[in-house]
Amino acid sequence: MVVILLFSMALVVLMSCVVDVKAEATKTLSEVNRKLKLLNKPAVKSIKTEDGEIIDCVDIYKQPAFDHPALRNHTIQIRPSFTIQDDTSSTKGDSSPAPALSQTWQKSGSCPLGTVPIRRIRKQDLLRAASLEHFGRDGPRTSWAVNAEATNGQSRHFVHLNGSKIPIFPMPEHSTAFLVTKGYNYVGARGGINAWSPRVESADEYTTGQIWIKNGPPGINFESVEAGWMVNPKLFGGAEPRLFARWTLDGYEKTGCINLVCPGFVQTSKTIVLGGILQPLSQKNGPQYQINLMMDRDPSTGNWWLHSGNDIIGYWPGPILSYLKNSATTIEWGGDVYSKKVKGNSPHTATAMGSGDFAAGRMGSAAYVGQYMIVDGYLRLKNPEWVDVFAEEPDCYTAVNYLATPKSEAVFYYGGPGRNPQCP
Ligand SMILES: *[C@@H]1O[C@H](CO)[C@@H](O)[C@H](O)[C@H]1NC(C)=O
Ligand SMILES: *[C@@H]1O[C@H](CO)[C@@H](O)[C@H](O)[C@H]1NC(C)=O
Repeated sequence: MVVILLFSMALVVLMSCVVDVKAEATKTLSEVNRKLKLLNKPAVKSIKTEDGEIIDCVDIYKQPAFDHPALRNHTIQIRPSFTIQDDTSSTKGDSSPAPALSQTWQKSGSCPLGTVPIRRIRKQDLLRAASLEHFGRDGPRTSWAVNAEATNGQSRHFVHLNGSKIPIFPMPEHSTAFLVTKGYNYVGARGGINAWSPRVESADEYTTGQIWIKNGPPGINFESVEAGWMVNPKLFGGAEPRLFARWTLDGYEKTGCINLVCPGFVQTSKTIVLGGILQPLSQKNGPQYQINLMMDRDPSTGNWWLHSGNDIIGYWPGPILSYLKNSATTIEWGGDVYSKKVKGNSPHTATAMGSGDFAAGRMGSAAYVGQYMIVDGYLRLKNPEWVDVFAEEPDCYTAVNYLATPKSEAVFYYGGPGRNPQCP
């Protein structure tokens, strides 16, 4: 009797659990569908790529950016009001590597005038995401990972710029290696970002090669606009490097977005897809390819424009930004590995940065950033007067600024394999 009673009680408990799980699942699915409808704007034309992805050509005035509350009355800017040209680059001669921005989707079709190509987000993309609310960004940071150092405005890490010791604030769950300049108000940055396809150990990690344009309070809650390439299987459903543009007002915690997967960035190009697969890629001891990125604040609107080579991709609108509305105080070039298995959480992730080789491997083996420049407050395009390098975990990923001769142009090398005997 007692046994039967216990058994039936257990059964009831078990069944209610099953029902709960089912309810949870259907709720999630309807949420997913609602979110998909919100994210994917009606297409004027759709293009299926060789890789099986769908590119929607969306009316430029109906793109996701306009869902941002600060952009309700936004007047779209179709072109930058001016462009600062690098008049030295034409004289740099023959060694400039070819650009890596022939996006594979362009073989399958093109978007009509007045539309912008947007990578369609599919159900499986959202189902892979840890949270719908945080789709397209990192946050929220897990509480154990927010250490005191990161929040109290003090730091044990420094770079040396113009004879001063400047604190650096490493972020939890990120391991970076970069070249940095500070000391002025910047309104632009340039860099030739060498394109590689580094290994990412698990789908919830990512690795980038990029430029950061930053301002904001000291610490990890910085404001930034960023662009480069990213290998991010969770977001993109594949391990190929893709063009990305992201922004945040608080170190990726609550605000911001990658590409057009949430509102913010306004796209104006009808030929470049954010999140598009980059090709061709660099080969070890073989040909090297790069994306030539250029980011400038437009003095007439406060929008930050993103260019790749001769293509104008679009802009981060001034109204969504805070400190960066006026200028940046920090420019960084380098790589970012996102993983919970960094900084003492052993085993260390085997997600690679750059090419997967250490900076000491230099040209043809390590990833580089070449022709790095800044635009100062007087709209002068120039090499930064001073720079320093920083690698958070130098046994895992390294950073070297290399001058072949005192007169040659410096090249920044960065990267590494992650887990290795020195970085267990
Ligand atoms: C948009 O315009 C309306 C009407 O002029 C105004 O009430 C509202 O505050 C504006 N919104 C923004 C975000 O500027
Ligand atoms: C660089 O250092 C010099 C000497 O300390 C100082 O006078 C100058 O203001 C500094 N420049 C910037 C931009 O910080």
